[in-house]
Amino acid sequence: MAVAGILLSNSWMGNQPAFATFPRYNFQILQPAPTQPVGYYDYFGKLLSPRQAAKLVKHQGLNPRDPVSYQKIGAVEITQELIDKGEEIYFNRKIGDNFGLQGVFGFAQGFATVLPEIRTAIAQLNGQPTSNLQITLQKNITLGNRTFHIGDVINTGLKVEKGGKFPLGFIPDEKTGTIGVTCAACHATVSQEGKRLAGVPNGELAIPFLIALSPNSAAGFVRLNTQLDPNNPLNLNPLNPIYKGDGKTIIDSKGNQVELPDPQKFETAFDDAVLDVPFGHFESSPDGIDDTTQIPSGFTFQNHPYTADGGFSVGSFNGLSVFNSAVHSSEINLLAAAQLSEQTLGIDSEVYIGTFLQNAADPRLRLPERLPDGNYVQPSVWLRQQQQQLGILFAELEDQIPAPGAGNYPKLKPSLATFNGLFFSPNSGQADDIASGKFFFAANAMSAFQNSLVPPPNRSQENWKALRSGSVQRGARVFQKANCASCHIPPFFTDNKIHPLEEIRTNSARAKSRLGLNDLLVKPKLYTYDTTVPVSASAEVLDVPTEGISDTPTTLPKGILPNGGYKTTTLRGLYFSAPYLHDGGVAVREGSLKVFWDGRYRVVDPTGLGLTGTLSRGLPADPASSLRALLDHQLREQVVAANKRNPALSPQRSNLDGTGHEFYVDNQTGFSIQQQTDLINFLLALDDDPGNF
Ligand code: HEC
Ligand code: HEC
Repeated sequence: MAVAGILLSNSWMGNQPAFATFPRYNFQILQPAPTQPVGYYDYFGKLLSPRQAAKLVKHQGLNPRDPVSYQKIGAVEITQELIDKGEEIYFNRKIGDNFGLQGVFGFAQGFATVLPEIRTAIAQLNGQPTSNLQITLQKNITLGNRTFHIGDVINTGLKVEKGGKFPLGFIPDEKTGTIGVTCAACHATVSQEGKRLAGVPNGELAIPFLIALSPNSAAGFVRLNTQLDPNNPLNLNPLNPIYKGDGKTIIDSKGNQVELPDPQKFETAFDDAVLDVPFGHFESSPDGIDDTTQIPSGFTFQNHPYTADGGFSVGSFNGLSVFNSAVHSSEINLLAAAQLSEQTLGIDSEVYIGTFLQNAADPRLRLPERLPDGNYVQPSVWLRQQQQQLGILFAELEDQIPAPGAGNYPKLKPSLATFNGLFFSPNSGQADDIASGKFFFAANAMSAFQNSLVPPPNRSQENWKALRSGSVQRGARVFQKANCASCHIPPFFTDNKIHPLEEIRTNSARAKSRLGLNDLLVKPKLYTYDTTVPVSASAEVLDVPTEGISDTPTTLPKGILPNGGYKTTTLRGLYFSAPYLHDGGVAVREGSLKVFWDGRYRVVDPTGLGLTGTLSRGLPADPASSLRALLDHQLREQVVAANKRNPALSPQRSNLDGTGHEFYVDNQTGFSIQQQTDLINFLLALDDDPGNF
């Protein structure tokens, strides 16, 4: 195989990368997929053997025997050590800056409200594991307009390992008195034996409840709908007249006096909106759109591009590293979103900062009524002065640095490598921080780790029976006959493409999330990976290749433009990731269907249909029944109707419906009901070794 061919042809690598690693591997649809080869290099998403990488380094005039040469060109050696470090960061390193998440939002303060209940429930486990910590409230808790009563039992979805003292993915920090959140809170679960299963989504996690508990959760208002709209009076635009009341008056960036929303009214409205979101769902993008998604599977190897719209696609590990960095920055740095709020949301940045601060959890960060001289406050100016006095100047930039070529904070430009102009890259010198290292070390380590994950085996009796009876094998043929494999190409069951909304027709909101950034993008650049942090002025810079991904380095990926799109999700691990589609709208509760011996089914409990019957009530969706709703025209109609009847899921609220992806396998498309059942069994068998038990 010609090395030059591998190095030069981006699209070839993009489509069939595994072949580069296992040239003579003959893929049968029911064989295990290749795994990430340790000892290879990642070069902006291309896998290179050590020889190929050495050749590339030499070609650039560098010494292939010096490990730094590889770092200089942006190649990452995939070592077991890197994977292990990535695992430690994934499980144990908090995400986000303390200033925003704790000081302003008040995450730990909110979590502490139910800490006695959590500790009691864990003590009662007597060292046994659980995948759903049930807590019994010891007092009434009012969030928004809802009251949870003393004695109420809440399914938190929190995971506790065997012998665990605290829920998986939550890290109490004695020093700061905070509770940190790690990737594992959402992207790991525990097996029946109580062992960690990384990459399996924590699909029942009570994220909305945990968010609403925070005293100033409205600091995250731009994650929800901020479009001023008379048809949706509940929108969370700070200038929406329904929130007028006791808000502070500030000076906006044009010098005008503006009255902020009443802090209590605004917090109540935000909590109400958040509590309308089903469990296992979360809204990460500060886009002013209601476009929550469910937590996806984390078996990332060859499953690029990343996130529902495929917006993370450039750079090391095919966009995975820039996404890992984003989780710590653009997805959670609540203040940095103010930089672009005027251009992307039409919200003045001072109004943004004022709304964010006026009800801050830490009283020292709350805006004053007026300055000592009697003038109104300009929030950004006041914040800088206050931060200086507290000795936490620019605390929102904790562990983050501006991208090269992005300008200066707080006026950074976004790029395909960072949507807020910042990178997560903690100071190389901090010995006690597992994420500290050279530029982008932590992001790349988390990539190497996540790419090492494979779905755990499906050990259910149903899978055993379906394999033994030949149903899985027949289902594999149905999969091909029904043309599923044209997009979900084995062995990774994806074509690595973003399909336009017009083709997939699932709920459109999330597909459009990044469109507002398109005209603002600058060229994506990184520092070379031998750069130490803090970055010196003489640090070397790398251009991030975008060929084959976007039409130009400063436009969003093909498929997202012009109207938004969704990437083809992998189908590996489906039996662990119900419900389905990015919005999780294709959901059916266990026991809602009765399936007869010949594969026919009947809805026996209509209350179990849709998110309404499942995660909106903190109850899990059943994989087999939910897949049937994906494939069966009639059942899908009932599921979508159940979603649409629920005001909490309406387009004005969480905006989740389960529409689209109309690739049905039922009588109407010429398949028998037995074939539909076989296909479901096949899909549920797609684990680490689909053909075996
Ligand atoms: C509060 C829950 C939560 C936490 C914590 C969290 N994620 Fe996620 N993650 C999500 C959700 C929800 C999505 C879907 C986002 C979207 O597509 O809009 C997601 C998407 C992803 C994806 C994309 C998967 C794919 O196939 O496209 C990756 C990779 C990922 N997260 C990794 C991480 C890492 C690494 C961390 C820690 C640094 C982390 N996440 C922390 C909820 C979470
Ligand atoms: C034109 C390309 C295309 C075809 C054909 C196609 N899919 Fe998909 N599939 C997608 C995309 C894109 C998504 C993500 C859509 C979303 O989440 O909004 C998806 C999502 C899915 C999901 C949800 C995965 C999850 O984790 O939620 C399943 C299951 C699925 N497809 C199975 C199938 C089956 C079975 C067929 C054949 C009957 C099929 N697909 C045909 C592109 C396709």
